[in-house]
Amino acid sequence: MVEYNKLIFEISRPGRVGSSLPESDVDAIDLKEKIPQHLIRDVSAELPEVSELQLIRHYTALSNKNHGIDNGFYPLGSCTMKYNPKINEDVAHLQGFTHIHPYQPVESVQGALKLLYELQEDLAEITGMDAVTLQPSAGAQGEWTGLMMVKAYLEHNGEKRTKVLVPDSAHGTNPASATVAGFKTVTIPSNEQGLVDLNELRKHMNSDVAALMLTNPNTLGLFEKEIIEIAKIVHDSGGLLYYDGANANAILGKTTPGQMGFDIVHLNLHKTFTTPHGGGGPGAGPVGVKSKLLPYLPVPRIEKQKDNYVIDYNHPLSIGRVKGYYGNFGILVRAYTYIRTMGPEGLRQVSESAVLHANYLRKKLEPYFDAPYSQICKHEFVLSGSRQKKQGVRTLDMAKRLLDFGYHPPTIYFPLNVEECLMIEPTETESKETLDAFADVMIQIAREVEENPDIVLNAPHTTIIGRLDEVQAARQPILRYTKEVELEKETIKL
Ligand SMILES: Cc1ncc(COP(=O)(O)O)c(C=O)c1O
Repeated sequence: MVEYNKLIFEISRPGRVGSSLPESDVDAIDLKEKIPQHLIRDVSAELPEVSELQLIRHYTALSNKNHGIDNGFYPLGSCTMKYNPKINEDVAHLQGFTHIHPYQPVESVQGALKLLYELQEDLAEITGMDAVTLQPSAGAQGEWTGLMMVKAYLEHNGEKRTKVLVPDSAHGTNPASATVAGFKTVTIPSNEQGLVDLNELRKHMNSDVAALMLTNPNTLGLFEKEIIEIAKIVHDSGGLLYYDGANANAILGKTTPGQMGFDIVHLNLHKTFTTPHGGGGPGAGPVGVKSKLLPYLPVPRIEKQKDNYVIDYNHPLSIGRVKGYYGNFGILVRAYTYIRTMGPEGLRQVSESAVLHANYLRKKLEPYFDAPYSQICKHEFVLSGSRQKKQGVRTLDMAKRLLDFGYHPPTIYFPLNVEECLMIEPTETESKETLDAFADVMIQIAREVEENPDIVLNAPHTTIIGRLDEVQAARQPILRYTKEVELEKETIKL
């Protein structure tokens, strides 16, 4: 095995160093005097002793084992894994942005505040809302922020509404955010077309309902055509309409949540607006609101007074601060760069291409898989592996087989209302050749299920490790080098 594919502890040699620091010219301190006895080590830490080159190869090899949008297709439905243009990075790394501090006097950071203000304005225009906060650092935190505003609005108006409705196709964060915000979640079943069932909605709407949370297009990739009627039903009974903007890649420049009748929106900048995504962050989930909710926006707010940009805390009805400072600033710079380089026409083309790509792939794959909602979709679509399940092969097996071809699998088993679900979102940034190649592999896997199911059932065959106990790996990951890892290594053939 080449050296850099070994664990770094295995290539360690006593006395080898990866740094050459000059002799210290400050007096050594006696640690024993300064540090409580129980915090002092008895033996030195057993760190690997390697050269700088060995270290670089080790980390480069590790990074190559990771799958990201820069090294492969990533059709992970609902996650909009699109290309992150490198110009975003160039701009975010300008010293004028990286060398400032949130505690600097506002006069000295007018450029940064201008960028934040203009991003708020751009996102308000894109969503059809009256004002935007940039503070939340994820979609889920945006949802929670929006619902806390709903709560504050209702309380201020003397209303005690306790329930939030979510369709059965909703992303799991929707009910979770509603619960954390103190509401009871009620799930409403979709109709046979996969859309909101208006009769069910009418049945559930009453004076207890604070809001309906929806994403449009929904997680099946289908546009809720009755959205104006849905908004009317919710508003007529005194509720608010919340837009989960994770699927905004389908509607840019075409329509806005505001036009559809929504009162609150969150966007995932790390999806639609090309900021880096995954690995737990940092993300950004700005929230936009219609004017009736404006007093409840988090503080501080970035505002413009004459020609100056100010940080304003003076909003007594605000729900308060939801994030340190003004949000994930570097991420906000990247999203602003993207919006300004694309312009309104470019953003409209984004959605047109995203929808075209999804429908192209859908039509290619539908003959080989069950398609529970076979109709024109928006930016993503769902297939079902129920046909393959009859041959004893599950959607999970097919997802694992895709790894052998260097593809990140689509989202699987979500939304929950589709049996053996595969949720595919190709995004606008992929070429026709990539879509064709992916379709060919999916078709090959469908054939393998018929002709040689074992190859799918035992996949992956080409990755460094095979199948993990995923629950165990998530709940009790082994993150440290220990003797047990060495044993484990034998069994999982690292
Ligand atoms: C439809 C939908 N809503 C909300 C979210 C939550 O966003 P985040 O992961 O940024 O918290 C996601 C994330 O995948 C999503 O797909």
